[in-house]
Amino acid sequence: MAKVMVLTSGTSGIGKSIALKLLKESNDSSDRLIVNYFEEEQKNQMYEELSAEDKNKVTFVYADLSSYTGLEGFVDDVLKISDKIDWLVCNTGIGTYKKFDEYDYELFDKILRTNLSIPTFMIQKFKPHFNQGGKIILMGSLAGKLPYSSSLVYSVSKAGVHHLAKCLMKEFDGTYVSINAIAPSFVQTPWQNGRSEESYERINKKINLHRFAESDEIAKLVYDTLTNDFINGTLLEITGGYDYF
Ligand SMILES: NC(=O)c1ccc[n+]([C@@H]2O[C@H](COP(=O)([O-])OP(=O)(O)OC[C@H]3O[C@@H](n4cnc5c(N)ncnc54)[C@H](OP(=O)(O)O)[C@@H]3O)[C@@H](O)[C@H]2O)c1
Repeated sequence: MAKVMVLTSGTSGIGKSIALKLLKESNDSSDRLIVNYFEEEQKNQMYEELSAEDKNKVTFVYADLSSYTGLEGFVDDVLKISDKIDWLVCNTGIGTYKKFDEYDYELFDKILRTNLSIPTFMIQKFKPHFNQGGKIILMGSLAGKLPYSSSLVYSVSKAGVHHLAKCLMKEFDGTYVSINAIAPSFVQTPWQNGRSEESYERINKKINLHRFAESDEIAKLVYDTLTNDFINGTLLEITGGYDYF
């Protein structure tokens, strides 16, 4: 059966790897992948990299998913493409390395809104449109389990994302739609731009495998979870063995 797959922030880092994995595994020419993007340049670059077959399956949809109006526009655009959805991956996430004492309300609110409130209301709006057997994945973070010293608001937002997956499972009772969250530790993506060698070394010492994950390793777990019908209401950690000493 052809699937309609929706992915947010799918043109960079982990999101791009998820998009490419979904396309690689797609074996029905009627499959449709709707990829949200924010930066035009990222979208154009990714489009150029796709095969002709993949270009036919993908629709790129612009949305600023840090705002409620951006969310409303995105949902409208997706539902114009398809009234029914099978898979939704909410991958958008932003952070800050500002110290707690330097926070202002607007910054805190924007990160909480983008990482937690917008995915919540996106799922509320898409809820009546899921096909039975549908799957939802929320991108969490190990920072939502451990209080990272580098980003209080990011950690708090991701803790909310993890609990959201569990709470929403109850809301979807009877619909046969599954929802899970994935919590990577450190992944080599543009998110890490600017990280110093000293910082890499300090973090790698805490990881049993002594390296950051590649984004396609996260994409594989996303795909494996989407295609497993009995994983539901769970937080899946993918950390390489963090803090094992
Ligand atoms: N990298 C890690 O170590 C790590 C660890 C744990 C969890 N995560 C989570 O993984 C997810 C992806 O992060 P990443 O590492 O792949 O980072 P990334 O490469 O920096 O990607 C961030 C993505 O968010 C998009 N974005 C930013 N602001 C947006 C907005 N207002 N509306 C819509 N999209 C917006 C960006 O779009 P443009 O490129 O178009 O600007 C980009 O696609 C996030 O939820 C993050 O919290 C990452």
